[in-house]
Amino acid sequence: MAWLALQQAGESVLGQVMEQVKGGSLLSLLLISCTFTLSLVYLLRLAVGPRAQLPAGAKNPPYIFSPIPFLGHAVAFGKSPIEFLENAYEKYGPVFSFTMVGKKFTYLLGSDAAALLFNSKNEDLNAEDVYQHLTTPVFGKGVAYDVPNPVFLEQKKMLKSGLNIAQFREHVSIIEKETKEYFESWGESGEKNLFEALSELIILTASHCLHGIEIRSQLNRKVAQLYADLDGGFSHAAWLLPSWLPLPSFRRRDRAHQEMKNLFCKAIQKRRQSENKTDDMLQTLLESTYKNGCFLTDDEIAGLLIGLLLAGQHTSSTTSAWLGFFLAQDKALQENCYLEQRAVCGEDLPPLTYDQLKDLNLLDRCIRETLRLRPPIMTIMRMARTPQTVAGYTIPPGHQVCVSPTVNQRLKDSWSKPLDFNPDRYLTDNPTSAEKFAYVPFGAGRHRCVGENFAYIQIKTIWSTMLRLYEFDLIDGYFPSVNYTTMIHTPERPIIRYKRRSK
Ligand code: HEM
Repeated sequence: MAWLALQQAGESVLGQVMEQVKGGSLLSLLLISCTFTLSLVYLLRLAVGPRAQLPAGAKNPPYIFSPIPFLGHAVAFGKSPIEFLENAYEKYGPVFSFTMVGKKFTYLLGSDAAALLFNSKNEDLNAEDVYQHLTTPVFGKGVAYDVPNPVFLEQKKMLKSGLNIAQFREHVSIIEKETKEYFESWGESGEKNLFEALSELIILTASHCLHGIEIRSQLNRKVAQLYADLDGGFSHAAWLLPSWLPLPSFRRRDRAHQEMKNLFCKAIQKRRQSENKTDDMLQTLLESTYKNGCFLTDDEIAGLLIGLLLAGQHTSSTTSAWLGFFLAQDKALQENCYLEQRAVCGEDLPPLTYDQLKDLNLLDRCIRETLRLRPPIMTIMRMARTPQTVAGYTIPPGHQVCVSPTVNQRLKDSWSKPLDFNPDRYLTDNPTSAEKFAYVPFGAGRHRCVGENFAYIQIKTIWSTMLRLYEFDLIDGYFPSVNYTTMIHTPERPIIRYKRRSK
């Protein structure tokens, strides 16, 4: 996720409800009656509740009517969010509102409209209001969206200073070694779930690079399960329901959080007492201070380390998996990426270095194009706390204001042949240089991603190593469709065929 892929949560909520209903159980009845009751409450609130005060003469954005109260457009959106938004763009223009699960959403599509969100102040379009109840139980108190944004900005600065070039130089060989070891079990040839493999590998590489060897060396099956339980906290249920409810997944999340925190705090204390001042993220955080001179507490360091890992986990593993399928689909492109390595690194392909990695321009463009067509974060979201004016409309407070990188990055108005995977489109500078927010896989403005450079290093090193080991093919020409039911849009049935590359 980026720090937060969570925003996707509500988007397929009804898809989930529908799935359960299809099961025809007692739970289905319960869900139907809950939905009915909520619809009544919702209609009542609409009828008698207070209305947001808008300036005189202000015009609301076009509203997409739905005859279904409360759930609104959740079904259509849950089934195919991109199609829903693209159709709405055609019909209503770049700014429109609709209801889903009792919440009002206003989308800002295209670069000009998106500028409102990216240039806004956090007091006006607020991130904590939409993300906090999901992130705090997972990361813990005192970090990210649990603190006022100026404090989080200070924390992001500390993280940024730990993600520096000296660190990246170390990371390349760590990631290359982890990747070679991981793929030893794949043997000469076969068919495997690429997304699953890359998810497992990326926990190992990210933990090693971002947490340090002490924590990486404790990463066994049990700890991997703790990460999975923590990650289970980013669910549709967690988005909709209060976090104190005694649901099994919430309990697992809370227990995992406590156990992870204990594990991290032990490693932090050990490092504090050690003579060894390894230059890594943990050391950076131990030595960082806020503007007022205070150091981070052990709990804050643990929370930031957990957050860093989870922020990069799904985002990088889905991007890497989609990249694999794009390369398997175009064997000539795959071969050219391999040949680029021989040209840049040398015919005998010595161990990778940071400087060589920077010169792998074709691979770089392939990642860039993958992030355009399959950005892991489909929607970036804020809560309107004050009336917001855009394109002649005023968005009332209480609306969830959204920008979709996926839609912006394939708008016909901004991109030529938008659905083609064409890494060479970046050869002529930035194809959308006039439109600042046409390409935003890492967001923009005050909430912009701090992990972009690390993500590129990680994905490039992993794929450079994989291309040295294997050739990849689609199985019977199957290119995965997009699974919209997960919060990050993962590839459906992501099985790939591989065979060891002959030198
Ligand atoms: C392909 C990989 C990644 C993608 C596509 C991605 C995408 C994003 C996006 C879109 C945002 C903006 C969210 C918003 O405005 O609401 C974001 C924020 C962030 N990301 Fe990433 N991310 C990636 C990897 C990482 C990694 C590896 C890390 C950590 C090492 C990281 C840490 C963060 C942090 C700390 C924020 C700041 C959130 C804020 O200020 O509200 N991300 N990311």
